[in-house]
Amino acid sequence: MRRKIVAGNWKMNKTLDEAVALVSEVVNMVKDEVTGDVQVVLCPPFVYLTTIRQYLQGQSRVALGAQNCHEKASGAYTGDIAAPMLQSIGVQYVILGHSERRQYAGETNAQLAEKVNIALAHGLTPIFCCGESLEQRQAEIHFDFVRTQLTESLFHLSPEQFADIVIAYEPIWAIGTGLTASSEQAQEMHALLREHIAGKYGAEVADNTSLLYGGSANEKNAAELFACPDVDGGLIGGASLKSREFTNVVKARQ
Ligand code: PGA
Repeated sequence: MRRKIVAGNWKMNKTLDEAVALVSEVVNMVKDEVTGDVQVVLCPPFVYLTTIRQYLQGQSRVALGAQNCHEKASGAYTGDIAAPMLQSIGVQYVILGHSERRQYAGETNAQLAEKVNIALAHGLTPIFCCGESLEQRQAEIHFDFVRTQLTESLFHLSPEQFADIVIAYEPIWAIGTGLTASSEQAQEMHALLREHIAGKYGAEVADNTSLLYGGSANEKNAAELFACPDVDGGLIGGASLKSREFTNVVKARQ
């Protein structure tokens, strides 16, 4: 059974006090208001992971995620963070291949395949991001582009390994821009991704894969996006920085 997931990607935001306030509010609101079977994942900056984890103890509905990890298990990589480190502090999910990392850190599909491997080897569930630019959509190569991102970074996995992957479709033109993909555009791409996964791993694996939408999703548009049959949840950036709004997005998915 595919899981319903709403993940908050805090990106490079919040001081420690603000991060603690946000997690406390989210945990309380989720406890009081969310009754369905949605899995919430909070992905704060690395430096707050250990602190935030303390606020999530006993909260199985709210899991902890990181925003990236290195492709090697350890070594001379100043400033980087390795998957075994994340595992050792109780992190459960890791966002991999976010378009901002592809753009600003030059992450490639081949490098992401390695990151996916190391994350899985250390018990982390990758939230693998894919998505096209506006130019690619206008040139009508967006379907091929996103299919290739999956093929090159994920399709070396065994079916058992692939079962642990969560995919987030995030059209770059919709991230942080206030421009959301229409529910038709989201559904169209999600259906195509599921078909692509089915072509490689079979219908059952494809049916069980959680496909999240990301890109200016918020409390106003979440219900319509989540009503799409192939949209299983969301990866939420800006709207995850406000506890009330983020909880409303979670409630739209439960
Ligand atoms: P946004 O970001 O919701 O602010 O558009 C989503 C993301 O980049 O994960």
